[in-house]
This record gives sequence, C-alpha cells and structure tokens, in this order.
Amino acid sequence: MATEIRKIGVIGAGQMGSGIAHVCALAGVDVRFNDISADRLAAARELIDGNLRRQVSKGAISDADRAAALERIVTAPTYADLGACDLVIEAATEDEQVKRKIFSELCPVLKPETMVATNTSSISITRLAASTDRPERFIGIHFMNPVPLMQLVELIRGIATEDETFDSARALIDRLGKTVAVSEDFPAFMVNRILLPMINEAIYTLYEGVGSVDAIDTAMRLGANHPMGPLQLADFIGLDTCLSIMQVLYEGLADSKYRPCPLLVKYVEAGWLGRKTQRGFYDYRGAEPVPTR
Ligand SMILES: NC(=O)c1ccc[n+]([C@@H]2O[C@H](COP(=O)([O-])OP(=O)(O)OC[C@H]3O[C@@H](n4cnc5c(N)ncnc54)[C@H](O)[C@@H]3O)[C@@H](O)[C@H]2O)c1
Repeated sequence: MATEIRKIGVIGAGQMGSGIAHVCALAGVDVRFNDISADRLAAARELIDGNLRRQVSKGAISDADRAAALERIVTAPTYADLGACDLVIEAATEDEQVKRKIFSELCPVLKPETMVATNTSSISITRLAASTDRPERFIGIHFMNPVPLMQLVELIRGIATEDETFDSARALIDRLGKTVAVSEDFPAFMVNRILLPMINEAIYTLYEGVGSVDAIDTAMRLGANHPMGPLQLADFIGLDTCLSIMQVLYEGLADSKYRPCPLLVKYVEAGWLGRKTQRGFYDYRGAEPVPTR
C-alpha cells in the first residue's frame, strides 16, 4: 500500500537538492526547500529557474509549466516549516555527522506519519535510519546528477524499512518518470561502488604521472566511449563528495583497494572541490575549462 506524496521537504539546496526540488515541482508535488545557508537557497531558486527556462527553450515544457513549478517551490527557513510534509528528502553534505544532526533536529517537528529519505551516495541507510525516531518510515532514494537529466534512481531499504515506505517512494519515482534500480544496503550501493573506484584510479593515474588530466580524460572518452572523462566527472560530482564516498568504501568494506588517492585528499584539503568552487582538476574561471595538470 503506497501513500500518495503531495508535499515534500528537501533539505540541502546544493546541486542535488536543487535538482530534486526541480523534478518534484515539475511533476506537481509541492516542495518546501531548506538549507542552512539563505544564500544557497536563493542561488538554488535562480539555478532552478534557469534550468526550467532551458527546458522551455528546447520545447520540453511550456512557460506556464515553468511558472507553476517555480511557484510550488517554497523556501522553508526552519525544519518546523517541513512538519506537514508527506516525505522529507535529505540532500545535505555527504558527512554522516551532518546528516545525523539534521535528523535529530528534524524528527521531533515532523508529523508521525511523515516519511524521511536520504539522498546519500554511500552511507549506510540502516545506520542513518537508527538515528531517527522512525526507522520503518526511512529509506534511501539516491538520485543521480544532474537530476533533471538522469533517468536512474537507486532505491535502498534499511533493515527496518516497511513495505508501505518502499512502495510510496517507488510510486513517487514512477510519477517523476524515472526508473528504479533496487540496491541492498551496502557501502556506496551499486552505481558508486563501481564508478568511484574507477574515478579514484584515474586520480592515481594522474598522481603517478602516467598521463596528464587531458590525456586521461581523452583516453577514457575516446578509448572507452565514456561521455565524459573520469576527472571531468569527478569535478562535476564534487571532489569532497568523491572523497567521502571512497572513505565509506574503504572503511565499510575494509579493503585497501578502496584507499582514497592522496592527490584527491590534497585537492579537498585545498578547497578545490571541482565545478562548485570553480577549481578542481580543471580551472573553470575562464570561458573554457583549463586542465590544471
Ligand atoms: N554530487 C553528486 O553527483 C551526487 C549524486 C548523487 C547523490 N549525491 C548526494 O547528495 C547529497 C548532496 O550532494 P550535493 O552534490 O548536492 O552537495 P553540495 O555541496 O552541492 O550541497 C550540499 C548542501 O547542503 C547544505 N547543508 C549542509 N549542512 C546542512 C544542514 N545542516 N541543513 C541544511 N542544509 C545543509 C549546504 O549548505 C549545501 O547547500 C550528498 O549526500 C551526496 O552524496 C551527490
């Protein structure tokens, strides 16, 4: 038995939260949009409007659809503003302590039947669920980046997730026109379990001087027919997120093959997080991205 989700809360107005708010609003779901930073929230609304306008110019949606979707996204400065939602999706920074703190402050202000989901790329759903007061109404809904364009959503149950929660989440994803792949609750699930070690290996390849940024990305685009090179993709995901996922794989599976590349650690320590900070393996400050090594 699925509950129809009419109103969702989104916590985190970064790349992923913006995309989730965008696709839900376009599908007719009311969105309450929260971030710790008022500036990020304002910037996210502009970004969503720009992305909706691009869809209008391509003829994918009408201008009336765009305006209606934007109107459905209401800023929610406090967690209390999310209290009446049917589902709250957490899409904040990939850090277990940050997420646990959000759940501990969020749950007391939610109505008892509200479901809670996390968009985490790697962290145990069962462990995050245990930090809430409603593990049976908790689930992993892992959207891919960029959300409006990517077809797949991984759905991950924690050990306590009830069928009703799973069915309701699946019905929402169907309504968004996306495809579900069900994953067991293992570190980094399926897509990132496979993708991130490849990206980490590309960074080792750079670190060991086997090839330059441009050579590695060109090799994988033209030699493996990937739509973008692994270093370009790492910048797109966010190098902090890539490092967090590798750390979860390394610690969660206790296997040295997942050791994060020291060069990735160094970039994150420098605050070079990829596109979102205008510098990662490429420098994005000019008209065209420039490889940095
Ligand atoms: N980037 C990707 O390709 C990708 C893909 C799938 C899933 N994810 C997951 O989605 C989540 C978000 O990733 P992102 O790329 O959007 O990160 P991001 O850095 O772009 O955005 C994170 C946002 O969370 C906000 N935030 C931090 N602490 C908060 C708090 N206590 N309350 C409210 N907001 C808070 C930040 O201000 C920021 O706006 C992570 O769990 C990540 O693993 C990322």
